[in-house]
Amino acid sequence: MSEYAVELRGIQKRYGSVTAVESMDMSVNESEFLSFLGPSGCGKTTTLRMIAGLEAPTAGDIYIKGRRMNDVPVHKRNIGIVFQNYALFPHRNVRDNVAFGLRFRGSNKAETAKRVADALQLVQLENMSERYPSELSGGQQQRVALARAIVIKPDLLLLDEPLSALDANLRQDMRVELKQIQKETGITTLFITHDQSEALAMSDRIAVMSRGRVEQLGTPQAIYNQPRSHFCATFIGNANVMQGKVTGGVPGNWSVETDGHAWQSASMDHWSSGDPVAVVIRAEYLRWCDEGPDETRTNRMQAIVRAVDYLGMSARYIVRTTHGQKLELVSPAVGSPLEVGMTKNISVDGQNVILLPADVACL
Ligand SMILES: Nc1ncnc2c1ncn2[C@@H]1O[C@H](COP(=O)(O)OP(=O)(O)OP(=O)(O)O)[C@@H](O)[C@H]1O
Ligand SMILES: [Mg+2]
Repeated sequence: MSEYAVELRGIQKRYGSVTAVESMDMSVNESEFLSFLGPSGCGKTTTLRMIAGLEAPTAGDIYIKGRRMNDVPVHKRNIGIVFQNYALFPHRNVRDNVAFGLRFRGSNKAETAKRVADALQLVQLENMSERYPSELSGGQQQRVALARAIVIKPDLLLLDEPLSALDANLRQDMRVELKQIQKETGITTLFITHDQSEALAMSDRIAVMSRGRVEQLGTPQAIYNQPRSHFCATFIGNANVMQGKVTGGVPGNWSVETDGHAWQSASMDHWSSGDPVAVVIRAEYLRWCDEGPDETRTNRMQAIVRAVDYLGMSARYIVRTTHGQKLELVSPAVGSPLEVGMTKNISVDGQNVILLPADVACL
């Protein structure tokens, strides 16, 4: 018996000449909350549909709890699914919507009633079991769809952008609730989103996808702090990416140069002098510093403010360094933000100067 809840081995999906999913290998742990994050068309839904059994892979194998599923039909996979348009039955009330999957599976009356009541309690809709979908808010409908998916006690919960129909505030509330329900039930959950903050807030791990491939699979912290590609660095958060080369050093303390600027990086990777690299610095790790101009210190330089976006809690600046490098900086906006034309020093910790091989970074 496999220790994994889901395993994908060399999964691929072609539609004629379009490759929706390229050879994908991944293992999902029991009770894990794993998000697929990526731009429109990168293959997220296709991946989930193959796991659900709604689409057959062109190549590769799918295992759920160690059992090969390729030839197992969707209704025998014991999977709960919530799609973007969660399609409740409009002429059935909440209780009957939730009970549907159980009746379909031949559950008896008493057991059905008990399990529906439990599921509705879990999503806090126990008082609304008589209502019809049209009498519910968007968030409540979403919870009915969730109750309907979990009432069957699935081995796996597949959620394809389940929060996208909700307005921003409700969406934030629901993501906390959804995460809580997932932790309470311990159901292994695969969650699709193209919203980075949703993925960062909810996931045990994130699979960042681009053009049918998983670019990086890791914890939210790892994805954010150690992006492995240009795409991961720029798709999540705001990052400055500069072309440069390694001028010397050892793992943990490298010197690199970009357009006349010297940077020190705490990268633990192995580099050689002269290696072309992309230097990646997240906008919020660049900060203003008050000490006098000391251009000889690495990772510190003078910059002039070229543009300011005041965002309430923070401000986003476009600055230009004395060597003409354009950088983006996001800093907490306590009091009034700096103004265009002001000159100030900026700095960054070597820990936050990320180095990527130039060829990977150019993908
Ligand atoms: N039935 C189909 N026939 C042909 N091409 C398809 C089919 N389904 C999906 N595709 C193509 O496969 C690619 C991946 O589609 P998919 O729906 O998986 O993307 P996605 O990541 O879910 O995007 P979105 O965020 O917009 O929902 C796209 O280029 C899409 O046009
Ligand atoms: Mg999709």
